[in-house]
Amino acid sequence: MSDDLLGPRAQDEEEGVEASLRPRRLEEFVGQERLRRQLELVLGGARQRGTAADHVLLSGPPGLGKTTLAGIVAAEMGAELRTTSGPAIERPGDLAAIVSGLEPGDVLFVDEVHRLPRAVEEVLYPAMEDFRIDVVVGRGPGARSLRLELPPFTLVGATTRAGQVSSPLRDRFGFVAQLEHYEADELTTIVRRSAGLLGVTVADDAAAEIAGRSRGTPRIANRLLRRVRDFAEVEADGSVDLATARAALEVFEVDGLGLDRLDRRLLEALVDRFDGGPVGVATLATVLSEEAATLEDAVEPFLLRCGLLQRTPRGRAATPGTYRHLGWTPPEAGPPGLFDGDGAT
Ligand SMILES: Nc1ncnc2c1ncn2[C@@H]1O[C@H](COP(=O)(O)OP(=O)(O)OP(=O)(O)O)[C@@H](O)[C@H]1O
Ligand SMILES: [Mg+2]
Repeated sequence: MSDDLLGPRAQDEEEGVEASLRPRRLEEFVGQERLRRQLELVLGGARQRGTAADHVLLSGPPGLGKTTLAGIVAAEMGAELRTTSGPAIERPGDLAAIVSGLEPGDVLFVDEVHRLPRAVEEVLYPAMEDFRIDVVVGRGPGARSLRLELPPFTLVGATTRAGQVSSPLRDRFGFVAQLEHYEADELTTIVRRSAGLLGVTVADDAAAEIAGRSRGTPRIANRLLRRVRDFAEVEADGSVDLATARAALEVFEVDGLGLDRLDRRLLEALVDRFDGGPVGVATLATVLSEEAATLEDAVEPFLLRCGLLQRTPRGRAATPGTYRHLGWTPPEAGPPGLFDGDGAT
């Protein structure tokens, strides 16, 4: 979802609220049953042996709980969490400074781990495997390599781009977990849990309504809940029933599937101005006055996932579902040009 309902200041506040809603322990973490069970075993085994847990790689789309799980790994191990990110570690020396400050058992969380510079990655390999690093001190002929022994630690890496994690790095994680979008009932549980923490009364059907528009994503569920709460406080008595939830989501332009304004503008442009496509993403971006990268990263994935958009060799195209979602009648033979890519007319 785009952030246009939130200015920069709201964004800061948002991070604070987000942190307050974050589950701290594995048993509070809703959904992702299999992953949770596996992690329980990985952490439980390490605890019994009295060692640091194996390194953990968490991958999956934004807002599904990677940062949350990094915190949970530390909490379950009774360890300190140190947080950094791939782009923040520019040089091998930066990494050396971070890892040489670790205490035994610490959890080092590296967000956006796919963005670690190559040279840093190479220093990280022996740190992960053998808990040592070799750093070069000095320059030119006087330069020498210095070996640092490190305490055992657990690296937790997170990435939204699993494909961009190099395989030597990936192979050094003992446990690799892929987070999936959440089911509606899991999101309903998350909305109810967050409502409890925020002290808002939300009826069950209202929680389900919010969950159903959350695009399978806990962060969005929590965000919609807070907007619905705003509406309920200003326009009603503060408690949320189904009608209040629907009215609030209408005001914030979040439709029945969870599409926001930009999503709908894209679909409308596709259908209305380009007869359903196919049309190149650059052209769509120009028409919508958006960056092509914004469309590709923030808008299209969800539309593709719910079958409202398709990618063809010649560009983006509508589906019959696109027309129906917009309340239009789909053209008889499908949008013109849709099947050109595979030889049909
Ligand atoms: N399984 C869950 N149960 C309850 N709440 C969750 C769960 N997963 C995520 N959340 C909520 O969603 C919010 C976003 O989660 P988190 O920050 O961990 O996502 P992320 O995967 O790190 O996203 P990004 O890729 O953008 O960094 C958290 O504040 C948390 O409250
Ligand atoms: Mg995160």
